[in-house]
Amino acid sequence: MRLTNDLREKIIGEIDKNYEYEGEIEGIKLHLNEHTYVPHPTTVELIQIASGIIKRNSDIKTVADPGTGSGFIAISLAKKFPDIKFLASDYSTKILKIAQLNAVENNCLNIKFVRNHHSSWLHEFSASKVDFFVINPPYISRILYKKDSFIKENPLILKEPKQAIVTSDNYGLKPIEDIIKHIPIIKPKFVLIQCNNDNLYLIKKITGKVGNSTILTNSQGVPRFILIERRSNEI
Ligand SMILES: C[S@@+](CC[C@H](N)C(=O)[O-])C[C@H]1O[C@@H](n2cnc3c(N)ncnc32)[C@H](O)[C@@H]1O
Repeated sequence: MRLTNDLREKIIGEIDKNYEYEGEIEGIKLHLNEHTYVPHPTTVELIQIASGIIKRNSDIKTVADPGTGSGFIAISLAKKFPDIKFLASDYSTKILKIAQLNAVENNCLNIKFVRNHHSSWLHEFSASKVDFFVINPPYISRILYKKDSFIKENPLILKEPKQAIVTSDNYGLKPIEDIIKHIPIIKPKFVLIQCNNDNLYLIKKITGKVGNSTILTNSQGVPRFILIERRSNEI
């Protein structure tokens, strides 16, 4: 089934009522429950962009999906690129169990799941060789999450797992700051991040410190993604 905003809303409603959902989304069989983030249509576009980057760069051998949730990003890409090695992480074993189950259901044996025991994003990959990160991190600040006007405009948010959508800082930038800290250590060739378009220009500025940072738009022309490419002169 094609993932639309309406379908997503229906799935969130079903999980709110029955605590779980099982179905096929964009050709992927998915089990979801109250701990797992329900994939968003924008992430389908993130996956399409990531696929193009993998196709154009034959030197990409390992791709990581930090904060994998249901495993939707890793599984979608692992099905398309069976010869590539995938790593997928999350902070909770409950979430990783669902992602592992989904990987098996979709016959993806090329994904290794790892737990991030640390609050810092990408810490779990510090000693790994990763060529490409594809990330959909939380981006709602703690302040915004407490604002009545924001919740009134986005009522669905209260039905989503908080750890999946709210950052631990007041600005919605903690995952981005952690990612920037780890790029010089892990040295991936590319990092593709799904972002909120409110602070995208600020994110472009700060990620520009660790590589060539470009804003990419979704199919409606709305800026939603940041692509960081490490400069070739950086060791
Ligand atoms: C916006 S959801 C994205 C889920 C999935 N990648 C997708 O696009 O459907 C963010 C995910 O990050 C996970 N997460 C939150 N903090 C994390 C951390 N410190 N390390 C790894 N994952 C984390 C959440 O549990 C959640 O699954």
